[in-house]
Amino acid sequence: MNELTSAINNHLACEFQASHTYLAMSIWLREKDLIGFSTYMETKSNEERTHASRMIAFLVDNDEKVELPSINAPDYEWDSLEALFSNVYSMEKEVTASINHIYGIAERINNRPATVMLDWFIDEQVKEESEARFICKRLKLANTNTAAMLLLDQQFFDGTFLANMQSASGFSPATAA
Ligand SMILES: [Fe+2]
Ligand SMILES: [Fe+2]
Repeated sequence: MNELTSAINNHLACEFQASHTYLAMSIWLREKDLIGFSTYMETKSNEERTHASRMIAFLVDNDEKVELPSINAPDYEWDSLEALFSNVYSMEKEVTASINHIYGIAERINNRPATVMLDWFIDEQVKEESEARFICKRLKLANTNTAAMLLLDQQFFDGTFLANMQSASGFSPATAA
């Protein structure tokens, strides 16, 4: 297996691990009856699987071998909503670092199809980190105020939270997948 194929296969673990972690977060949030946040996390979990699928399709289409990774059991407990989203932010930064690593290999060996495929991921990670940072900031503003927390949960539930983010940052969540 060449270096690039090996790095892409290794990266699959990042995407599946993120999917698994988001699912565990969705369960924790549903247990707390924070249905809006929980639904958001379930959507994120499904999106991460589609990210893995994109890379798998790239490997298969280029006649390269796919090796599905083992993934670890995720955390199931967080001290607070703020701690949970801080976890999201750091996890997305790790995914970004892994994408950047693969991109570096693709550039070094001058594999243009790979850099084109990875451009989508570079863009996606900017959005993912921006979204996580925005939510962390909102939660910090809410502090431990229950009413503020429930309002944010309701905004996730009715889909207006990310619309608020769009007007605040210019980022369009509709283009995120
Ligand atoms: Fe991802
Ligand atoms: Fe992500």
